[in-house]
Amino acid sequence: MANYPTKRLRRLRYNPIIRDMIRETSLTKNDLIYPLFVMPGENVKNPVKSMPGVFQFSIDNLIKECEELVALGVPAIILFGIPEHKDEKGSEAYDDNGIIQRAVREIKAKIKNLLVITDVCLCEYTSHGHCGLLDGEEILNDETVSLLAKEAVSHAQAGADIIAPSDMMDGRVLAIRKALDYKGFTKIPIMSYSVKYSSGYYGPFRDAANSSPSFGDRRSHQMDIANGDEAIREVESDIDEGADIVMVKPAGPYLDIIRRVKDKFGMPTAAYQVSGEYSMIKAAGINGWIDEERVMIESLIAIKRAGADMILTYFAKDVAKYLDKKE
Ligand code: PBG
Ligand code: ZN
Repeated sequence: MANYPTKRLRRLRYNPIIRDMIRETSLTKNDLIYPLFVMPGENVKNPVKSMPGVFQFSIDNLIKECEELVALGVPAIILFGIPEHKDEKGSEAYDDNGIIQRAVREIKAKIKNLLVITDVCLCEYTSHGHCGLLDGEEILNDETVSLLAKEAVSHAQAGADIIAPSDMMDGRVLAIRKALDYKGFTKIPIMSYSVKYSSGYYGPFRDAANSSPSFGDRRSHQMDIANGDEAIREVESDIDEGADIVMVKPAGPYLDIIRRVKDKFGMPTAAYQVSGEYSMIKAAGINGWIDEERVMIESLIAIKRAGADMILTYFAKDVAKYLDKKE
């Protein structure tokens, strides 16, 4: 035993320049994907009550928001649609004049240098709020997958840069990949929501997207919160089916899963810091119970440290402003 103490871990913590030099994880604007909600109408900017700072936009205001994002240096968005009308089959999801298709065309016509990812699912478009076609109370898998493939193709035709299926039906990545390729979209990547838990943290999102199921829940397709090995099997099958980027969702409560997925597959890995994670930090911040900015950064650094390459987060604009301020 050497003389006490030769090893002092604090030695590298006194000088802020040394601290900066040895920092292992960083958060940059390139990590950020900002979720946006688009709805019909003009000059609409509806605040989402359970998500302070988040709005539902009509397309005209969505364009203004995209301009602001580009100015802030946020590189990417993911779009969610609130349709004009909902029906049993979620028809507007795969209608070339649906809300997402119109929004994407408009963004692509007017905004440069913004990556547009579209969420592919049916729950925002079905009258019953479920992610697929129903037979009684059962969500049909294969029939739903055909519609998701149609939805993906119509998003690509509108100009989407990346397709992000969030439905958790079996086989949808392969079906979407084949449908995209068949229509010539061989260069459009798929970012699959590979590991999506049946989580209570989606509560505020369902307000934002008006997508709560009218009965039952999503446990027959989303994953059991208690399972980790199953997450590996989900990711493995999505990679086999052609996923280019895999996602874990939610993020903060599932850091162990992010780490396992990254270590095992070494794939570009996205993590979705979901609505409930955002709202909890916001609410405590607004009440003065925590330092919101500090906890925001801590939550995102943790997700990156766990192995995420990119983060879908409602804090994207706040992070970009924070990074500018720090410069
Ligand atoms: C649609 C979808 C959901 C989210 C993203 N895509 C909701 C759900 O599965 O109920 C949740 C995102 C969030 O909570 O921020 N399938
Ligand atoms: Zn869904």
